[in-house]
Amino acid sequence: MEEDTIDDVVEVLDSGRYVKGPVGERFEDRFAAQTGVEHAVGVSSGTAALLLALRAAGVGPGDQVLVPGHSFFATVSPVLSLDADPVFVDIDPETYTMDPADLAEKASAATSPAAVIPVHIYGAMADMDAIGRVAEEHDLFVLEDACQAHFAERDGETAGSAGDAGAFSFYPSKNMTVAGDGGMVTTDDAELAREMRRLRNHGRDDDGVHRSLGLNYRLDETSAAVGLAQLGRVERWNRNRHSAAERYTEALETVPEVTAPTEPEDAFHVYHLYVIQAPDRDELQDHLEAQGIDTGIHYGTALHEHPAVTDRIDPVSLPRTEALVDRILSLPMYPEIAERDVEYVTNTICEFYR
Ligand SMILES: Cc1ncc(COP(=O)(O)O)c(C=O)c1O
Repeated sequence: MEEDTIDDVVEVLDSGRYVKGPVGERFEDRFAAQTGVEHAVGVSSGTAALLLALRAAGVGPGDQVLVPGHSFFATVSPVLSLDADPVFVDIDPETYTMDPADLAEKASAATSPAAVIPVHIYGAMADMDAIGRVAEEHDLFVLEDACQAHFAERDGETAGSAGDAGAFSFYPSKNMTVAGDGGMVTTDDAELAREMRRLRNHGRDDDGVHRSLGLNYRLDETSAAVGLAQLGRVERWNRNRHSAAERYTEALETVPEVTAPTEPEDAFHVYHLYVIQAPDRDELQDHLEAQGIDTGIHYGTALHEHPAVTDRIDPVSLPRTEALVDRILSLPMYPEIAERDVEYVTNTICEFYR
């Protein structure tokens, strides 16, 4: 960790103020300003961010929440834990984000649609203009799952500023972190922000009265100090990720078997993950591992096929999502990845298909 960040953390430790303090407030103000929204509310994780935003919006038992089939489980677990019903939407085959046309169909067929959670998967923003039009027609609360997409852009909007609220994670592998768990919710809605601030702190109002049932979802001051320092660096890190992605994509043009990720026009993909589609994915992964290259699969099971979900809902079929999960492979991606490492990975992939 950078020396100046360590100094900031030590300053918090020396202050004796570990929660509900001024560093958290500065982190929130700066995160809101950088995202281009009025309010940011620091919380204990990305999962808490999603849960509290849904609760503050009034989503509860029997409400239907539209979610994409392809994401990390935490996109749907807050929905299930509120006893709301997920309605799964297939993905756009180019960006792997929620398909607005399928969303329109599913929202029209839904009996009590209340919210939609577009996920900016891998760092690519979903088509928020098209999703926003469907949401308006069906009066849906739009909660962006921006947990993988800090400062991604599309059509002139920044992730977390294009819906009614945006949820971010600072889990250590994310594009920016707090050296532990943490999260943030962004919104322009002052009342929503106020309710989330209550909910993260036992539902307590400024006068000490508990008018909502909240728990403890607070973000520590030491975490906020790390987050604040990283806010000054994350946009440079994102540019480095983007340049590494361009190098990968250019080199993979010579391997017709592999599908590289794409970036819509007028978008800035922040490449939380660089994910290719590959036939014989498992064999390719073994081959790369044998050459000392660590890869990952994000995610090998579609959201609607996890037992924790199938226990609760009738079976659904999402053909594009189901086809994708058997073919995806995440290549090494981090801001400092060296050109020669990208070259070694792509040469090893070429070798496998030759
Ligand atoms: C898409 C997505 N949603 C939600 C989460 C949950 O965030 P956290 O792990 O901070 O609870 C994550 C990260 O893990 C994620 O990648």
